[in-house]
Amino acid sequence: MDIKAVILAAGKGTRMKSETTPKVLHEILGKTLLGYVIDNVKNFTDEQFVIVGHHAAEVEKFVTDNYSNAKTVLQSPQLGTGHAVSMVCPNLENYNGLVLILCGDTPLIKEDTLKNFVDFHNSNNSDLTVMSTIFEDPTNYGRIIREDDNSLKCIVEEKDATPEQKAVKEVNAGIYCLNWSKIKDAFSQLKTNNAQGEYYLTDIISWGKTQQLSVNAYILENSDEIYGINSRSNLATASKIMNRNTLEKLMGEGVTVVDPESTWISADTKIGQDTIIYPFTYIEGKNVIGKSCKIGPCAHLRGGVEVCDNVKIGNFVEVKKSKILSNTNVGHLAYIGDSELGERVNIGAGTITANYDPISKTKSKTVLKDDVKIGSNSVLVAPVTVEQGANIGAGSVITKTIPQWALALTRAPLKILENWVGKKK
Ligand code: UD1
Ligand code: CA
Repeated sequence: MDIKAVILAAGKGTRMKSETTPKVLHEILGKTLLGYVIDNVKNFTDEQFVIVGHHAAEVEKFVTDNYSNAKTVLQSPQLGTGHAVSMVCPNLENYNGLVLILCGDTPLIKEDTLKNFVDFHNSNNSDLTVMSTIFEDPTNYGRIIREDDNSLKCIVEEKDATPEQKAVKEVNAGIYCLNWSKIKDAFSQLKTNNAQGEYYLTDIISWGKTQQLSVNAYILENSDEIYGINSRSNLATASKIMNRNTLEKLMGEGVTVVDPESTWISADTKIGQDTIIYPFTYIEGKNVIGKSCKIGPCAHLRGGVEVCDNVKIGNFVEVKKSKILSNTNVGHLAYIGDSELGERVNIGAGTITANYDPISKTKSKTVLKDDVKIGSNSVLVAPVTVEQGANIGAGSVITKTIPQWALALTRAPLKILENWVGKKK
């Protein structure tokens, strides 16, 4: 079955009150809202169209840099969600399959839910299916209005709703599945006669009804998944929900999370059994952590981190884009960036990999082979390699390759002036 996704990401996101960042590029644990949405559809749709408009160049760059099967389509000016979808009409002129429409500001939706939604659409021989859910507080969402016989009638936006309609708790998730050839004509017929003067995508429901098409709702039980992000406060709530889901999953797989309240782990982090995550640890982006590791308290993994088994990353340690082999310790107060650490390496407290040259704005690599020991408060100025088993004396600044099993140290000699204080008295 042909299926294409259309993801709406052109809106201004006024309620985010952001000057610098379009709404869909705000992040949860190192990944953009739009990234979550594309990741959830990319495995089962043939092609993804992302509608861009506000800050189009940045959103477009994000999409093309990260997703080879996704295309961006410009919507300018942005005249509403219905207008946004109409932008893909020229791309789908003779297309006969399904179109799955989603919003770029709804990152909690799960891939399995979307697949079930499409299955529901197909098995009900539906022409148009909208996802809905029940919210105790439906404020700001479009309300699902039903006929007396419980079939769908239309969707009414908060700003257009009567008090009676506002009391309805079934809301529009903003996710739709449509048989494109049957619904596409709707997009040239939408009107702007509503409180916001916009072309509402939601009006395709009543349009479908007038065309005697099969229009259905799929009611999602887990309402958390369709939580939309319109404000910073919504962003914080969604982050909490996502994090809690990730921690529950990890705990279910045999990872100890000492304090889920103060621990943040991205959904794209894999962690092996019997690893313990101590409080105040923050792990963002994509990472793989092995078995029986100890991470934290207060560790920060910034993405691109690969850690093998039985590794310790202790308090106030930051690690970024690095590979750390098994039985290695990075115990305290260290920064490890763009590095490769072998097995049984020991990193003393206060060690820094100086990976960034602010003049050339380039980053370089630090390689520490098996059994290397780095004394406390050392700086490894990258690019640099320490060969197997070499020791670095405390307080050293290392700027070139250190041969295996050597001792290297750069240190001003210790001076002792006998009775220096006594003479001053
Ligand atoms: C929309 C729905 C509402 C639903 C809610 C679910 C409409 C009219 N309303 O409301 O029924 O309950 O989502 O979260 O569809 N966008 C564009 N171009 C535009 C306008 C918006 O691409 O011209 C994009 C936005 O970037 C956003 C998405 O469409 O990703 C939804 O727009 P938003 O303004 O957030 O709609 P809601 O008011 O949340
Ligand atoms: Ca929204």
